[in-house]
Order: sequence, then structure tokens, then C-alpha cells
Amino acid sequence: MAETYDGAVDRGLEGVVACTTAISSIVDATLTYRGYTIEDLAEKKSFEEVVYLLWNNKLPSDSELTELKSKLEKEAGLEPGLIATLKTLPTENVHPMAWLRTAASAMALSDSSADDMSKEDLWRKTYRITSKMGALVAAFHRLRNGSEIVPPKAGKSMAWNFLYMLNGVEPDAETEKVFDTCLTLHADHELNCSAFSARVTTSSLSDVYSSVVSAIGTLKGPLHGGANEQVMRMLKKIETVENAKEWIKNALANKEKVMGFGHRVYKNGDPRAKILRKMSESMTKKSGEPQWYEISKVIDDTVQSEKGLLPNVDFYSATVYYSMGIPLDLYTPIFAVSRVSGWLAHILEQYENNRIYRPRGEYTGHTHLKI
Ligand code: COA
Repeated sequence: MAETYDGAVDRGLEGVVACTTAISSIVDATLTYRGYTIEDLAEKKSFEEVVYLLWNNKLPSDSELTELKSKLEKEAGLEPGLIATLKTLPTENVHPMAWLRTAASAMALSDSSADDMSKEDLWRKTYRITSKMGALVAAFHRLRNGSEIVPPKAGKSMAWNFLYMLNGVEPDAETEKVFDTCLTLHADHELNCSAFSARVTTSSLSDVYSSVVSAIGTLKGPLHGGANEQVMRMLKKIETVENAKEWIKNALANKEKVMGFGHRVYKNGDPRAKILRKMSESMTKKSGEPQWYEISKVIDDTVQSEKGLLPNVDFYSATVYYSMGIPLDLYTPIFAVSRVSGWLAHILEQYENNRIYRPRGEYTGHTHLKI
């Protein structure tokens, strides 16, 4: 006999509050990390300060920031054993998020204390995983191009080092600042799909690497982190400002989803998109290709007037990354380079107050069959 339930099944868990969390909050169009608005943090704080805030529930003093940086720096490079494993992974016709998912798992295999659940070792792994995520993404890009892996430089920010490890060229101060802000904007977002999957894995008291691997797999999907890459592919197809309005109207008429628009929680606009729009305007000008911002603006206006939908974090981040010369398929891995800090904040919070996630499913299959 199938069990039936009172009330509607909550597909997508839209109306479900699945845990308490003190990490980040969304109220209307206001996003805060640990009580500070995203606008304030993006303007006044570095990504490292934001990481400290997410993990420690307070902004760091100067000495606390120095300590955090030195712990991250200690873990920033890839050990020879890990590099040897990474070199065995295929890169041709492989999406970087698929590679990153495997590489993050390989990180666990080169950590003899991967399953140590002591508080002290959880913190060590938190630094290790966060610090190495950028090095892994950069290594993928270098390996697929047949170039040498570039080790990070001491005394530089995570934003600086990521761009340096990726390109082998030192970024200028403006590019470093814009990229640093992008990392801050993507760091956490309440109970988003990938943070939730990290928490679900954590709730079985699995190890922290497994939780991060689950989250990477979830972020990969086009309805979550994969949208930013699809935005730039769409802009490339549209090609000119003149084509933009008609192209989008046709897409909407064909019931296609326009990537980078809409949000499960924000119905009055995503505050991160507003910050990114300004950066998209200035960075596309700087790169000598302002048309990418101009096409984006026409799309933005058209989707708003035709469908009443506003851009989300993925829409303008695409043109910001494009202006920096970052390959399209690395946009979602870059999301992971930042969001790993939020995942780890969620993983630590889940361990502190754990109950295994185990919802029910309403059975709709056959009943009373006999062999
Ligand atoms: N383009 C066109 N229509 C969209 C849309 C988009 N980007 N996003 C939502 N809609 C429409 C849906 O088709 C649906 O219309 P309908 O009621 O006529 O069927 C309505 O708006 C509700 O959308 P729905 O997909 O049910 O909302 P959701 O809360 O389940 O999904 C997203 C939220 C983010 C998954 C969804 O907006 C989306 O797929 N966006 C594009 C992908 C994206 O940018 N993801 C990054 C999120 S940060």
C-alpha cells in the first residue's frame, strides 16, 4: 500500500526552510554575508577578508588577516604527487567542471588525513581546499594547452595569483581589483543549490572533500553555475547590437530560457548584477570591445519588458570575464574558486548542528503487482 501525504509535494523545495544558517541572508533585494551588505563588502573589503568573515562570523583584525593569508599561502601550490595525478587526467573534449570535480576528489587521495574529522584537521582542510581550488582550475587550463603549471607567488592576493597562474602573466591592479570583487560577489548565497548539496553530503557525516565534490557537481548545471558560460555563448551568437532585440524576442517566443535571467529568490532584482553591470561597462571599454556590454544592455531591457525578468549574477559576470581574456568554459570553474569558501562555511556549520537530511518522496508507481 503506497503511503500518501497531506498537502502538496514541494517540487524544488521552494517553500521549504531546510536548516537554520547564520552565514548569508537574502531579504527582498538585499544580500548580506554575516550581516554586512554585499555592496559594502564588494567596495571596501578584499576577498580574503570576506573569506575570514564567512568562516569566523566577524571581520578580521590586521593580525587575523595576516594569519589567514599565511595559512592560505602555505596551501596555495599543488604538491608534486597531486600534479602527477592531475597529469594523468584527460583534458581533451572534457568540460573543466568535470575535470575539476575529479581533481577535487584526487586532492582527497593525496591527503592522508582526508577522513580525520577532528576540528583542528577540518580547519586545515578548509584552508587547503579553498586555497588549491584556484590552482586546480589554472592547472587544467595550462595542461590542456600543453604549458607548464605556474606556481603561485608569495605575498599576492588570491585574485592576483589566480590570474597569474592561469596566464603566466602578472595582472594589472585594475584587473586584480575587478576579479577580487567578482570573487566576493560569488562567495556565498544562502541555501543555494550547491551549498545545499554540500550540506546534504555533510549531513551523512561524510568527509569534507566528498561534500565539496558534491557541490562542484551541482554547480556545474546550467540552471545554477553553468549559466554564466551560456550567457557569453549567447552573446557570441547574437554578435551585434542590432540583432539583439529580435534574437531575444524570438527566443522568448520559442519558450527558451534566456540564461542569466530570473531567480528563485530575488523577484525584485539581484543586487550582485547591479555591481557587475558597472564592471561590465568599464571592463568591456578597457578591452576595446564595448559592444558586449551594449548587446547585454539591449538583452536586459528586452527580457525585462517582454517577460518582467531581471538579470542575475551570471548575466554581467560573463562579459566581465570575457574582457579579461578568460576562456568561456572557465567561467563556471571560477565560480567554484570563489564559492568553495561559502561551501566550506556551510559544511562547518552543518557539522556543528547536524541532523541527516532524509526527506520523503510521495510514491506514484505501480502497486499490488504479483510475480
Ligand atoms: N528566461 C525566460 N523565462 C524564464 C527565465 C529565463 N531565464 N527564468 C524563468 N523564466 C520563466 C519560466 O519559463 C516560467 O514561466 P512560465 O510560468 O510561463 O512557465 C517562470 O519564469 C518561472 O520560472 P521557473 O523556472 O519556474 O523559476 P524557478 O524559480 O524554478 O527557476 C531559475 C529559477 C534561476 C532556475 C530560472 O530563472 C532559470 O532557469 N534561469 C536561467 C538560468 C540561470 O540564469 N541560472 C542562474 C541562476 S543564479
